[in-house]
Amino acid sequence: MQYAYPETFDLKFKLQKEPKSIGVMMVGWGGNNGTTFTASLLANQGNITWEDPRGGTKAPNWLGSLTQCSTAYLGIGGDGKEVYIPWNGLVPLVDVNKIKVGGWDISKMNMADATARAHVLDIDLQRKLRPLMEPMVPLPSVYDPKFVASNQNDRANNVLKGSKSENLEKIIYDIVEFRKNENLDLVIVVWTANTERCCEIMPGIHDTAENLFKAIYEDHPEISPSTLFAIAAIKAQCPFINGSPQNTLVPGCIDFAEKNGIFVAGDDFKSGQTKLKSVLVDFLVGAGLKPMSIMSYNHLGNNDGKNLSAPEQFRSKEVKLLMKPYQSLYFIGLDLGDSKRAMDEYISEIMLGGHNTIVIHNVCEDSLLATPLILDLVVLTEFFGRLRIGSTSKTASHLHSALSILGYFLKAPVGMPGAPVVNALAKQRSALENLLRACVGLGPVNHMHLEHRVQ
Ligand code: NAI
Repeated sequence: MQYAYPETFDLKFKLQKEPKSIGVMMVGWGGNNGTTFTASLLANQGNITWEDPRGGTKAPNWLGSLTQCSTAYLGIGGDGKEVYIPWNGLVPLVDVNKIKVGGWDISKMNMADATARAHVLDIDLQRKLRPLMEPMVPLPSVYDPKFVASNQNDRANNVLKGSKSENLEKIIYDIVEFRKNENLDLVIVVWTANTERCCEIMPGIHDTAENLFKAIYEDHPEISPSTLFAIAAIKAQCPFINGSPQNTLVPGCIDFAEKNGIFVAGDDFKSGQTKLKSVLVDFLVGAGLKPMSIMSYNHLGNNDGKNLSAPEQFRSKEVKLLMKPYQSLYFIGLDLGDSKRAMDEYISEIMLGGHNTIVIHNVCEDSLLATPLILDLVVLTEFFGRLRIGSTSKTASHLHSALSILGYFLKAPVGMPGAPVVNALAKQRSALENLLRACVGLGPVNHMHLEHRVQ
């Protein structure tokens, strides 16, 4: 017989209170996410209003952002009622009105024209932002047609020449220059470029930091542009976030991040359909039902959809989305612009051989769901960089380099090697909220509420 004995540890949470001045550099800056994020940042920072085609005036906001629009549970007030507080009131988070933005794209279209190309924002807002966005032009990027779909060729007019190691040095230079010119403490690099095909992970190439560097200097063909950007970011002491599904964060990359004490987070922004999926599956399993199949259909007509219409790039999405054996995914390219249609059919077995079918039809502008999520990823990455946890203040260390605490925002969270992956949205949110509470000396929320239940 084996027994389990509870053990008690005291943990100290040490937080540097002053947020760093931060900048975001986006790879794929001229795409739908890149332009929408930049436009949202500028509109919010300048409080730029616009005429709503349906009537009235619209003002910018960050709806969909946990750090800007959501609240955390604080406790029970003197009147017995629950008290909530905005996240950015609970702990000191960076002021999003001071965030600077820049980046790279294989297309050299300026950011005002690229915003028009994306067809996401109302025309009057685009017009008002034009003077701010026209001077913004993406830096040339690493383009490897073996990794993105061949249908992206027609926009690749802003491409770095040279070997992989020369490209690496140039990206590091770009980051360092941006940090210096914008007078920033920290730059966070976000991959929001097209989905690449997954690289074929090879021993001796991708397994350790040393082998990865050797392979880069030997110009090895299986080093993807996204991995090159991740390595450049870490080398420049910058966190890296992978917003697409491909396997950018190969073991050697995580090894390099660990050795440098730099955060990396990924993979794939969890914006709409998957977010709901990670709620519904949790509900079905939690209710004691048995999910039998989930059929997902995506109708997407933007450039992301065009790239994903190629089999190898679609495979990256499929591999990341099909985490359970009962899921299947279909993808149909329709000319719907950024307004994505997602249809999911959930079939579960219920009592005595019965079946329950739930059908969800989800329609939204994809980039307007992804943008607040990118903001949260950036804001929280900066925040966790100021946090140390340990049994004494002296031995306190930062979170592991593979920042799985950001799993709420990512479809396939990458964590510490060997650590279990949590996909359920409520658990992910509660882990985040409880960690923020711990930073101000509050215990985890358990919802027992014995004060209302015991006589
Ligand atoms: P997009 O196609 O509009 O933008 C991608 C941009 O990347 C394009 O401007 C393209 O020129 C550029 N690009 C391609 N390869 C590049 C490289 N090697 N270096 C620099 N730039 C490069 O796509 P969108 O809608 O902005 O999405 C971006 C990524 O985010 C896609 O991989 C997508 O699957 C992923 N994603 C998007 C979500 C959303 O809700 N919008 C949710 C989950 C993931």
